Amino acid sequence: MPERDETDADARRSSQGDRARPDGPAGDEPRAWNGSEEPAVRRQNGKYRRARLRHRIVAVASNAVGAALTRRHLNQPIAVRRLDVRLPDWPSSHDGIRIVHFSDLHLGSLLPIERALGALELVRQERGDLIACTGDLVDLDVDGVEPLLEGMGSLTAPLGHYLVLGNHDHLDDPRGIVRLARAAGLEVLLDESRVVGGSGLAVAGIDWGRGVRECRVRVDSVCNRTDGPIHLLLSHNPLAFPEASRRGIPLTLAGHTHGGQVARRARPTQSLALGHRFRAGFYAKGPSALFVTNGLGAWFPLRLHCDPEIVVLTIRRGAMSLPV
Ligand SMILES: [Fe+2]
Repeated sequence: MPERDETDADARRSSQGDRARPDGPAGDEPRAWNGSEEPAVRRQNGKYRRARLRHRIVAVASNAVGAALTRRHLNQPIAVRRLDVRLPDWPSSHDGIRIVHFSDLHLGSLLPIERALGALELVRQERGDLIACTGDLVDLDVDGVEPLLEGMGSLTAPLGHYLVLGNHDHLDDPRGIVRLARAAGLEVLLDESRVVGGSGLAVAGIDWGRGVRECRVRVDSVCNRTDGPIHLLLSHNPLAFPEASRRGIPLTLAGHTHGGQVARRARPTQSLALGHRFRAGFYAKGPSALFVTNGLGAWFPLRLHCDPEIVVLTIRRGAMSLPV
């Protein structure tokens, strides 16, 4: 089943945990950074071990159902969705900008490197003005991520190629992913912003935040450290949107839910993403909009009425208009 949003009880536990940590979520580095340790040491942590157990269960289940299911999953075409968006507070200096958004590759047994590089080729062909990846590059181990990051680094766009980390990127070696991504030329945004395009498009990104409260702290942190308004926010977790909309950020891009992977035909919000407040597609509050992509990868080898996707958003300034 897809992972669920943080509940109130989770938030209380998370809050207690944050107070106990020397570096809280507003720090310059993510709280789960452990990449200075050897793999055998860092992979002893509880989150990694639970994720590895889930991995094994999925592998056994896949074998039981048969290789055909996995083979079908691995051959499922990747959709390229081109969507037009109008936002009232989008800067007129960047009217008509094309943003190529992809997310949740989960590099591993359910998304081998060849399929990942094929997806990047689709991104390249779109020739966007800006490229945004909202995290979960790897499913579990970072082993083998180098060619993916090199491939991403080869994708350039006039206004930049940005990356934020997802929860799965934190399981093994987030510091290693950031180091390799930056070496490949990607802009990794860890509660940071960049002003690009001469006439001032402000792009911000936050590191993985588990729930509304942690996302709020991160969004506040990056807003307080940015001169002027932020126009585009990247966050793996869609739960950044309540604070992003309160701050008046025109557009937030997120992933994380995979759209539930199994949805009702023509009703993408009726899906297995049962525990998620923002499941898939567009959401609006005041002049702010959130887009949650279905992503490219998977937790289990099935996507039904919920294609793996790359999304190309053409953003114009105007009265709010979002695709259904
Ligand atoms: Fe994911």
